[in-house]
Amino acid sequence: MRKLSEQLKETTEFLKEKGFGAVDFGLILGSGLGELADEIENPIAIPFAEIPHFTVSTVVGHAGKLVYGTLSGKKVMAMQGRFHYYEGHSMQKVTYPVRVMSALGVHSLVVTNAAGGVNENFTPGNLMLITDHINFTGDNPLIGENEDDMGPRFPDMSHAYTAAYGEVAKKVAEKQKIDLQEGVYMGYSGPTYETPAEIRMSRTLGADAVGMSTVSEVIVAAHCGLKVLGISCITNLAAGMQSSLNHEEVVETTERVKVQFKELIKATLVE
Ligand code: HPA
Repeated sequence: MRKLSEQLKETTEFLKEKGFGAVDFGLILGSGLGELADEIENPIAIPFAEIPHFTVSTVVGHAGKLVYGTLSGKKVMAMQGRFHYYEGHSMQKVTYPVRVMSALGVHSLVVTNAAGGVNENFTPGNLMLITDHINFTGDNPLIGENEDDMGPRFPDMSHAYTAAYGEVAKKVAEKQKIDLQEGVYMGYSGPTYETPAEIRMSRTLGADAVGMSTVSEVIVAAHCGLKVLGISCITNLAAGMQSSLNHEEVVETTERVKVQFKELIKATLVE
C-alpha cells in the first residue's frame, strides 16, 4: 500500500484546488446530526465519493459530504456523515478524514455521535459531554507500521478529550439551559445493538453511553496531536433498559434535539 503521507498529499492537493484554505476546526457529524453543516457560510461541499482515498458511507441519515466554510466566525471543515467500521471499512479508512483534517491544519476536532444511554440517570434527548472513552471495538487504527512523521508509536491517551473544551461546553450549556450530561463513551464495533448482558457489563466497566463510532477517530486525533471536543446525543436507553431498539428512534431523537445540539456546538467553537 502507498504511504499514508503520499495519499494525504493527493487528498489535500485535491481539496485545496477545490478552494479549501486555512482551517481551525474539523467536525464529524454523527447520525441525524449532519444539519449543522447546512449552517456553514460560504460553503464548498464535496461528496465523499469524489475525494481521493475517501470511501463512501452507506447509512441512512448520513449525507456523505465534506463541507468547508465559516461557522461561528471560525474556519471549519465538516464531515456530514462519517465512515463506520461495521460497514466493512478498515479502521485506517474510517479515520482517514481525521488525518486529512490534521494535514490541512485543524487544531481541534469536534466529534459527535448518537449513543445509547447506559447511565441510569440519563434520558433520551440528553446531550453528553464525552470525558473519556473505552475502546471495546477489538481493533485500533494505529495497528501496523507507524509513520513517525504522523505521530508517536505509543500515543498517550490520558487527555484525549480536551478538558478546557469540556469546561466551555458546560458553561455554554448552563447559559443556554441545556441539560448537558457528562461521561464515558464505550465504543463497540456494531452493527448489532448490544445485548442487555453487554450493557450490564458496560455499566460495571464504567461506561455511561455506548455507540459504534468515535473511539477510532479520537485515537487518530490523539496521534495527530489534535484537541478534541466530543458530544454524544443520547438517542435511547441502551438494551435491557427499554423494551427494544431501532434506528428510526435514533433518528427521531436527534431530530428532536438538533436545535440544542447545534447551538451547543456553535457556541463552543472557541480557540
Ligand atoms: N447502542 C449502540 N449504538 C447506538 C445506540 C445504542 O444503544 N443508540 C445510538 N447508537
